[in-house]
Amino acid sequence: MQDFEKLGVFYLGKKYDLEEKRLKDELVLYKSKDLTTHAVIIGMTGSGKTGLGIGIIEEAAIDNIPVIAIDPKGDLGNLALTFPQLRKEDFLPWVNIHEAANKGMSKEEYADAQAELWRKGLSEWGQDEKRIEMLRNAASVRIYTPGGSAGLGVSLLRSFNAPPREVINDKDAYRDRIDITTNSLLTLLGFNVDPFTSREYILISNIFEHIWSKGQNIDLPGLISAIQKPPFDKIGVMDVESFYPSKDRFSLAMMLNSLLASPGFKAWLEGEPMDINRFLYDENGKPSVSIFSIAHLSDSERMFFVTMLLNEVLSWVRGQPGTGSLRAILYMDELFGYLPPIANPPSKAPLLTLLKQARAFGLGLVLSTQNPGDLDYKALSNAGTWFIGRLQAERDKEKVLAGLEGAAAGGKFDRERTGRILAGLGNRVFYLHNVHEDEPVIFSTRWVLSYLAGPLTRDQITALTSKETVYEKPQPVQDNIPQMHKPGVFDETRPVHSKSAVPVLPLQIKQVYLPASGIEPGNLVYVPSVIGAADVLYSNSKLGVAVSKSYTLLAPLHEGPVPLNWSEAEQIDIDLRDLDSAPLEGACYADFPDAASKAGSYEDWKRLLTQYIRTNLCLKLFYSPTLKLISEPGEDERAFRIRLQHLAHERRDEAVEAIRKKYESKLDTLEERHRRAKQEVDRQNALAAQRKVEAAVSAGTALLGALLGRKMISATSVSRIGTAVRSTSKAFTSGQQISGAVETLQSIEAQIRELQMELEQQLEKISAGYNVMEEKLENVEIRPISSNITVHFVGLAWVPNTR
Ligand SMILES: Nc1ncnc2c1ncn2[C@@H]1O[C@H](COP(=O)(O)OP(=O)(O)OP(=O)(O)O)[C@@H](O)[C@H]1O
Ligand SMILES: [Mg+2]
Repeated sequence: MQDFEKLGVFYLGKKYDLEEKRLKDELVLYKSKDLTTHAVIIGMTGSGKTGLGIGIIEEAAIDNIPVIAIDPKGDLGNLALTFPQLRKEDFLPWVNIHEAANKGMSKEEYADAQAELWRKGLSEWGQDEKRIEMLRNAASVRIYTPGGSAGLGVSLLRSFNAPPREVINDKDAYRDRIDITTNSLLTLLGFNVDPFTSREYILISNIFEHIWSKGQNIDLPGLISAIQKPPFDKIGVMDVESFYPSKDRFSLAMMLNSLLASPGFKAWLEGEPMDINRFLYDENGKPSVSIFSIAHLSDSERMFFVTMLLNEVLSWVRGQPGTGSLRAILYMDELFGYLPPIANPPSKAPLLTLLKQARAFGLGLVLSTQNPGDLDYKALSNAGTWFIGRLQAERDKEKVLAGLEGAAAGGKFDRERTGRILAGLGNRVFYLHNVHEDEPVIFSTRWVLSYLAGPLTRDQITALTSKETVYEKPQPVQDNIPQMHKPGVFDETRPVHSKSAVPVLPLQIKQVYLPASGIEPGNLVYVPSVIGAADVLYSNSKLGVAVSKSYTLLAPLHEGPVPLNWSEAEQIDIDLRDLDSAPLEGACYADFPDAASKAGSYEDWKRLLTQYIRTNLCLKLFYSPTLKLISEPGEDERAFRIRLQHLAHERRDEAVEAIRKKYESKLDTLEERHRRAKQEVDRQNALAAQRKVEAAVSAGTALLGALLGRKMISATSVSRIGTAVRSTSKAFTSGQQISGAVETLQSIEAQIRELQMELEQQLEKISAGYNVMEEKLENVEIRPISSNITVHFVGLAWVPNTR
């Protein structure tokens, strides 16, 4: 059963025979890569959509793919209910007492029954406690309740922060960002406006644009005052006052103010910032499943939150490098109202853009709904995977059929036959159309690993939310020297020269003055330090590293035998060219040790600086032995691990693809020969052809089918091999002689089986070879050699202090 783990395929369920209303043995395995073209799940209430969605999320987590899930109904929190031992005590706190009462059971009895139900359900689907354990270890589940306090909070304040530079520089992305933010904010205020004519819209979007373009952030109070006193005079060619008189602007500001003052609003300001990277990976870089439970919010609040979240996802996506592998999943459990065919709610724009653009960056959208009438099918014609469950009305069926037809655009689509199939679907049975496969599949969803307790209560969510999951952003790596530098306060015990005396020093000593902006010359004391600047090349050909870094170090001067010690230096972030070459007039100067007035000292200090850099300023990097990859300078362990995981997925997908290419024609030939040999046997022996052949299919066969594409080695044809041979041999042993045709068939089948075993071995190697999750990274320290250290400046720096 383990065959498919870690190979980038999701175990969704087993094929289902609609005519015989019976489960088949063949597993339905879905290539995670295929999800980059997005999936839609449609079915009536109770048809098993959420069960399927939870199954997909579980598979993703097991495969180390992070998930953001938007949960308008409150049952996705069930993903946190995973009990590797399946003990009744584990179930007890979560069972529904009303359901227990309905069944005439005590809570304990019911928990016992549920534990048993799960054990049985899982084993029927070939799953066990180990798989639950695997899921638990693979990803942490976090439940956020934005605008509420039961789960983790999400602070929306940051969302009015200026977007990253890349977004501002990308005209379309920047426009989108401004539009979506304005739109969602106005929705929260109860407006439903047209961006082209609405004054509110135009004013607020202009404010965002004005502030953000300067790289500044704006919070709600800031926005309220900017509405009253806009930071510009004109909108288009009109002056603000005639476009939108201050009296009217005041009422808009009042509306925002009431929102801000409302008791519920505080909850929107508390919690983690909207940071997609933090939602997707924990502090160690391990993938997370972040569930955003929004059942408690009003319609307009939900729209506001969902739109803001999609907005952030969009910015995040745009910052990712392109990929062909699945990087993350965005799942929405009920799409109703967010992507309607005609209306234009704020959520629609980011969803459309995501549907069009996210695939190139590896983000797969999984969108689920029970309202087939409420979908923009034109937008969804981009979706590559359709899961259709039981539908309620004929009308719904027609809508879905039209949608499927659009998605199949150009490809073959048998509307009538599909219509008949859809009419016959039962609960948990789905019609799966995947553009990457030749044929649709009808399957029943596998039993989920998580306990489906139903919507969680507030208290239950709180119990599942350990506040420790919130963590501080780690400091960026700073190769072992502290950053500085605020102007210091002058130590009055130091002797100070008189105002007029600019100290006179030998010409060979270079002097610079650090900028003293903001200090009154009368309060300014220049304190002497030694400044050194160096370029360092870190190189290690074995590891393929060649990185140059520039350092500017500032070290204090002391009286006494050791006037300067570079290990006391601070690294400053100043370009030497930005330093002043003359002091501000009217400043005082602190005393300095004799050594600082001797040109020879600076020669010594230069030599000492090279020595200091060589021994102390090494470049610290991480190395992954599995992928033979070294981290970038400045990349912390978490970021490196995140990059490694995705890279491992890409390499694995490539390796599988290479195998597919290698075996494709071999299998094609064998299949064709097999078909002909079989025909011949059938011709000679009508008996064998009449016999209904069916065999238990091993997971391995299904895996090959899923990875190699069904057309080349259809799981069925291989599965039938054994039985066909057995039944034919039986027919022949009962009297007749085994003909040459049967021998041929047997030999071809033996070859296919051999090839299959060879393939399985190779896949096994792949699944073991790209596991970087548990990998221990090696610390690599690269020290520069003296000849790679160029000290190009050592001089006296006058550092401004106030007194
Ligand atoms: N994969 C599964 N494993 C075990 N039980 C399941 C599974 N899928 C569905 N069920 C059972 O069927 C019930 C209904 O399924 P589900 O909640 O998935 O329907 P739905 O289509 O999401 O309905 P709604 O539109 O009302 O949300 C679940 O409460 C659960 O008891
Ligand atoms: Mg549901």
